[in-house]
Amino acid sequence: MCPLPLPPGVPACSIIDAPPYPARADVPPIVEMNGVTKTYAAGTPREFTAIRDVTFKVEDLANVGQFVCILGPSGCGKSTILRLIAGLSPQFPPTAGEVMVNGHQVAAPGPDRGMVFQDYTCFDNRTVVDNVAFGLECRGVQKKERRAEAMEWIAKVGLNPQKDARKYPHQLSGGMRQRVAIARSLILKPSIILMDEPFGALDPATRHNMQDLLAALWREVQSTVFFITHDVPEAVFLGDRIFIMSNAPGTILHRFFILAPDRPARLMPREPAFLDTVNGIRDILGGLAEGKG
Ligand SMILES: Nc1ncnc2c1ncn2[C@@H]1O[C@H](COP(=O)(O)OP(=O)(O)OP(=O)(O)O)[C@@H](O)[C@H]1O
Ligand SMILES: [Mg+2]
Repeated sequence: MCPLPLPPGVPACSIIDAPPYPARADVPPIVEMNGVTKTYAAGTPREFTAIRDVTFKVEDLANVGQFVCILGPSGCGKSTILRLIAGLSPQFPPTAGEVMVNGHQVAAPGPDRGMVFQDYTCFDNRTVVDNVAFGLECRGVQKKERRAEAMEWIAKVGLNPQKDARKYPHQLSGGMRQRVAIARSLILKPSIILMDEPFGALDPATRHNMQDLLAALWREVQSTVFFITHDVPEAVFLGDRIFIMSNAPGTILHRFFILAPDRPARLMPREPAFLDTVNGIRDILGGLAEGKG
């Protein structure tokens, strides 16, 4: 989603071939993969190549982070790609190729990359406020200061600071726990946010609310987001760039840019241009499900 004005005459959520805003020439791409292959259990009878020769660049754009959605059949290597960027084993290191962040080879996880998973990862023995403040605590921020900031983020993700801050994760719904996980990641203002099917387990109405929330917060923190989903309308609403992967061993088959939506997630599916984009992508994915690619 791009906060800049749309080109005249092009409807929101149409597919375009180039970004509607310029890349910064003075800095390296924020994330880059060059010929990345990952073979699990290499040299054993269980050897399996999950991704092959994945190459892409996500440029640093002036004052806006890109929102990159990754779509593809189950098992095509989407999570493998995300965890390689995060520097998490056993996906990291790659078997071949380079994973670069801000012009440097990834060597390990780092505070510049925040991760949000599908299963609402919270610390069960910490209250909401202590969950949200966790990263600041690790950075050595004083208790009063980090709690004040955590309270602000609790409100920003739509929880009630008075009622919810002292609750424990088991006292929250799935949607609320995912809000906590998002606050815990964004409070650190990572330049890259990696999200692996974060809304996969939510009901449709909660999911639309979370999509609107994420779109608004992402605009505020201006991070680059990599977002995995199996939900095509979600990808078209949130993404300003989409990668479609092939069947395993996964590689990027299609890549394009999408103009920003101009209304809430709940209302976009009524727009013909939005539906055209969604249906075009579903046709590609349907072909992949039938084993083509
Ligand atoms: N640690 C591992 N050891 C061996 N094989 C693995 C490992 N992690 C993933 N794989 C295999 O690599 C392939 C890609 O896995 P990955 O989790 O990246 O797929 P995905 O696209 O995220 O799938 P889904 O959409 O189902 O989440 C799968 O066949 C999986 O079984
Ligand atoms: Mg996955």
